[in-house]
Amino acid sequence: MKPVPLDTWGHSLDNGAMWILGIDTSCDDTGVGVVRDDRVVSNRVASQTLLHQRHGGVVPELASREHTRVIDPLVQTALQEAGISVHDLDLVAATKGPGLIGALLVGYTYGKGLAFALDKPFVAVHHLEGHLYAALAEHPEVTPPFLALVASGGHTHLFEVRAWGQYQLLGATMDDAAGEAFDKVARLLGLGYPGGPEIERLAREGNPQSVPLSLPLKDQSGLAFSFSGLKTAVARALEKGYARADIAAAFQRVAVEHLASVVVRAAKSHGHSTLLVAGGVAQNSALRARLQAAGLRLLFPPPGLATDNGAMIALAAGHTWRGQGSALQVPAQPYLPLTMDEPTC
Ligand code: KG4
Ligand code: ZN
Repeated sequence: MKPVPLDTWGHSLDNGAMWILGIDTSCDDTGVGVVRDDRVVSNRVASQTLLHQRHGGVVPELASREHTRVIDPLVQTALQEAGISVHDLDLVAATKGPGLIGALLVGYTYGKGLAFALDKPFVAVHHLEGHLYAALAEHPEVTPPFLALVASGGHTHLFEVRAWGQYQLLGATMDDAAGEAFDKVARLLGLGYPGGPEIERLAREGNPQSVPLSLPLKDQSGLAFSFSGLKTAVARALEKGYARADIAAAFQRVAVEHLASVVVRAAKSHGHSTLLVAGGVAQNSALRARLQAAGLRLLFPPPGLATDNGAMIALAAGHTWRGQGSALQVPAQPYLPLTMDEPTC
């Protein structure tokens, strides 16, 4: 294999002509994507929402079994959609962590096995780095530095992207993730899973000001997030007999204000005007409106790339591989910090 030109951080500068397969099975969606030249040629996601819905949250064992059932046909479908055969692939990438270990292992082991069988390089990708690189599909011109908020069912992380590959964690949740809070509050209100879209829908029928809920960590000077107190306050409001729609509207107002106020403070204190928002919560229109009103230049991944997917893993792999594949003996890691300063669980 000819040597690949590398940038200052040792990242490949030559991913243009490569066909890259990306796999993500970190949680409850099986994601398989094919990219070439930062262009998403196929992005297939097999959602497990219906499977987990009746349990009110993700059941890890069911997630692993479902990934195992669908991964191979999904890879075939993605390759067909891209119009290539498996032998045309130049690189195979999969999420190494963080995530549910049983779920991670399905895609990670599949990816390694496929790369080995094809004698092609395998690239292990950090799930959160995948979320960051998803922005390139919509905004190929985007260059760091910028702020990035990843808000999903498993993460609420605010990063400063100083350069591609150089990240500083500015803030993270102290307890529940933002999406997890939407899911738990939805369950309290008797709504379905995932809770975010359900709350957003019910909130349209309610008055956001009619239930007194206080802003989490409102006196902090730091950049932390917290959602568990808000969830408890919702349970109290329900006991007091407030209408469900009003509670949904008030919860959404306060959750959005909490996320936005921390992000805006970070933008000011670190001198940033550009913000990437990724993860399922990025789809919340109240959050989008609030951030827009703050005057930030917002980068949203295109539809299908904000939530967990395989294309973002392929995009990240194309930029982070170092001309040589990752060692196949490196295990998947359920707790995997992206930055040195990040808590590991
Ligand atoms: O990124 P994602 O698909 O998967 C991971 O958790 O990694 O995010 C799913 C989360 C769920 O907690 C869901 O309730 C939340 O994102 N979500 C939303 C909305 N759509 C999805 N939260 C608030 N508003 C939404 N419109
Ligand atoms: Zn994710």
